[in-house]
Amino acid sequence: MHTTASGHLDYYKRHGINPVRYEMGNLQRHFDRRAALYRMLGVTPLVVRGSRVLEVAPGTGQNSLYVASLRPAELTLVEPNPVAVRDITTLYATPGIAPVLPQLITSTFQDFDPGRDFDLVICENWLGNSAHERGLLRKLGRLVAEDGLLVITTVSPVGILPNVLRKALTYRLDDIEAPFADRTAVLSEAFGPHLRTIPAMTRTVTDWVHDNVMNPAYFGIRLTIPMVIEELGHGFDVLGSSPRFAADWRWFKALAGDAREFNPHFLREYRGELHNFLDYRTILPARDPVRNRELETAAWEVSERVHELEQDTYADRPTRSSTTATVDAVRKVRANLSDLTATGWTAALDEFLITFTEPTLTATRVGEMRDFGGLFGRETVYLSLERC
Ligand SMILES: C[S@@+](CC[C@H](N)C(=O)[O-])C[C@H]1O[C@@H](n2cnc3c(N)ncnc32)[C@H](O)[C@@H]1O
Repeated sequence: MHTTASGHLDYYKRHGINPVRYEMGNLQRHFDRRAALYRMLGVTPLVVRGSRVLEVAPGTGQNSLYVASLRPAELTLVEPNPVAVRDITTLYATPGIAPVLPQLITSTFQDFDPGRDFDLVICENWLGNSAHERGLLRKLGRLVAEDGLLVITTVSPVGILPNVLRKALTYRLDDIEAPFADRTAVLSEAFGPHLRTIPAMTRTVTDWVHDNVMNPAYFGIRLTIPMVIEELGHGFDVLGSSPRFAADWRWFKALAGDAREFNPHFLREYRGELHNFLDYRTILPARDPVRNRELETAAWEVSERVHELEQDTYADRPTRSSTTATVDAVRKVRANLSDLTATGWTAALDEFLITFTEPTLTATRVGEMRDFGGLFGRETVYLSLERC
């Protein structure tokens, strides 16, 4: 999961956590996953070899280890969280762990001023949609050398919807006054069974709970693909994404001058496929982009209402209006999806609505949700962009 520019850092530091550890018992499998991701993004080993690479907000540094293994000319990491800095230092202290050792800058990215550019700039799961963070996104772009690549993560409001609904359930279960460990235990009991339905999960339930449903800066992460193209589209062309959802059947000979239109084409593909971000278990044919635009708006509306609900809950204000607003917003999503039969989505949303409005809710009850429990979106969408 993403964090945002400052809110998450404060939260991580307050609780002394770094909930972004990857399961790395088998290093080769970790490298395989990273190689698969970068391959989808067009960042093959040859791109990295001999390049000047910058990774901003690397967390544990586990992902950077794969980049280091590809023998870049240099690798710079910018990470201000002391727990993460300790993890990175420990990781690279293992003799022979990587052929290239990174230069670790322990400042915030805001304070980072290298006075030079990089061939490849990577920033995963950090920047969100606030004006400040969109400014930092542009700063990332300015650090990319001519013909260089930028790798970032985005979040679609449709992909994030299932976890936004888990946030809504969290406010019915969480006692903000209770010790952090007790709150973690309750929410792990509620969502552990949901997470255990995901076969390729690489994070622990505890880390997921800390980084998602308990994370107070969660709603700041909604940096969408259209927003990125709005910020960077004048200087960058989209190269790839993971998941890869965009096809391009245009004849390359037609792609000269203004007709190249890589970004507008990519956006059209995005609109036709947006419904496929709702459930990682399902792939449906492309859909009417107008319906999907409505879906995007309705899903965004749900996250706005649940965000409001969060603020009301933790400020201990009456929550009836934000609860009703959440229910109404979810119903709109449900109505939009009604033409997509045999997906189980309607049953999942119905179960959510019933559970969410039950007078007394327990973690066990949430853990037992049968239709909703397995619903997780394609939440994080990686994007690579080429400086043009
Ligand atoms: C969710 S973690 C992502 C870590 C890693 N990129 C990954 O995908 O696993 C977000 C990271 O952003 C870092 N971060 C937060 N504020 C930052 C800032 N102002 N400058 C640079 N990094 C920051 C956090 O310390 C944390 O390591």
